[in-house]
Amino acid sequence: MSLLKSLFGAKQPKLVEVAPFGISFEMETNQTLLEAALKAGIPFPHNCTVGTCGSCKSKLKEGRVNALSDFGYTLSQQEIAAGYILACQAIPKDPMTRITVEPLVSDAPPPEKYTAKLTGTEALTHDILRVTLELDRPIRFVAGQYANLRLPGLDRERNYSYADAPEREGRKTINFFIRKIPGGAFTEALFSGQLVNAALEVEGPHGHFYLRPNASPMVCIAGGSGLAPLLSLLEHAKHTRVKRPCAMLFGARTQADLYMVEQIQAIADGWADKFVFLPVLSHEPADSSWKGARGLVTQFITDALPGIDWNSAEGYMCGPPGMIDAGISSMTEQGMSLESIYYDKFTDASHSSKMP
Ligand SMILES: Cc1cc2nc3c(=O)[nH]c(=O)nc-3n(C[C@H](O)[C@H](O)[C@H](O)COP(=O)(O)OP(=O)(O)OC[C@H]3O[C@@H](n4cnc5c(N)ncnc54)[C@H](O)[C@@H]3O)c2cc1C
Ligand code: FES
Repeated sequence: MSLLKSLFGAKQPKLVEVAPFGISFEMETNQTLLEAALKAGIPFPHNCTVGTCGSCKSKLKEGRVNALSDFGYTLSQQEIAAGYILACQAIPKDPMTRITVEPLVSDAPPPEKYTAKLTGTEALTHDILRVTLELDRPIRFVAGQYANLRLPGLDRERNYSYADAPEREGRKTINFFIRKIPGGAFTEALFSGQLVNAALEVEGPHGHFYLRPNASPMVCIAGGSGLAPLLSLLEHAKHTRVKRPCAMLFGARTQADLYMVEQIQAIADGWADKFVFLPVLSHEPADSSWKGARGLVTQFITDALPGIDWNSAEGYMCGPPGMIDAGISSMTEQGMSLESIYYDKFTDASHSSKMP
């Protein structure tokens, strides 16, 4: 033992235990929890590794961690207060750390790479396009999941949720609903029309947003292009005769920003239980013809399925980060547990301090 170690004591190894895998391992200096878990052979859910996708969300049961970037870009304040962390951004501080993570979706195949051609776009609103890709072979996914799209020449991949219900044999033609982000490298090129017939790489499926098997009421909230994974999930649930009360709240700015309304109504008509569709407009001119709900979509969650048992209900949300955070607050205020709220936050590079 060196003189310094004998004077100050040998540095204690840091141990980590991950439930439900029941595997524990030793951390190397400056490793993140995700890096160490993957090295230990744990199939730990992850995708971006930079703290934006939320795939590695886990709950800290024992010990403290240092955060490489603010968990608040991706997690809500309620989740952070309840002990949730992002394993890809967490470095343990204490000799013992215990975390739990929800395992990967069991029905989803492992992600693979596909080559694809962007075969068409269609304007759904002034700033949302339906984008169609033709793949080299069919891709299988679980309703609600997303893919990584990589355009040659761009620094990194972008995440987009499948807008269609999956098919048993996989889908060779896939659609996404993509919103234009001012100043965004991929979406500016897409909306300028430059990418029609472009070759892309698609990698997937990814993600934890899928319908949990349950008979309790489900409250869904979509904002903007966040409608894509919810349409996929609800369409699939309708085909498979899922029987549970469902509220679908769709937040948009004005009537011109509502889209796929007939498709949502068709899902409502074929749903095996009660289904309430509630579009909510935040910026519709006061003197317009709109007779529906006005305000922030998250303010209307109690109107859609009045009298439900919020303690057993589940929440499903996709869209802009602010809407998701407000939705988590509204749902937990009603008594829904944080563990029963599932979402994909459509973060972009402006939400991360670590993006290039
Ligand atoms: C799980 C998941 C699923 C998603 N699904 C969808 C979907 O179905 N549909 C959809 O429309 N979107 C979805 N998104 C969002 C999408 O992946 C992209 O983030 C978005 O399309 C932006 O791509 P872009 O290349 O146009 O913008 P980017 O080039 O990523 O830029 C985004 C914004 O950040 C700014 N910016 C760039 N770099 C920095 C920096 N270093 N610091 C600060 N600001 C910066 C840019 O000026 C721009 O305003 C999803 C996101 C996630 C995480
Ligand atoms: S892998 Fe940790 S947030 Fe994406």
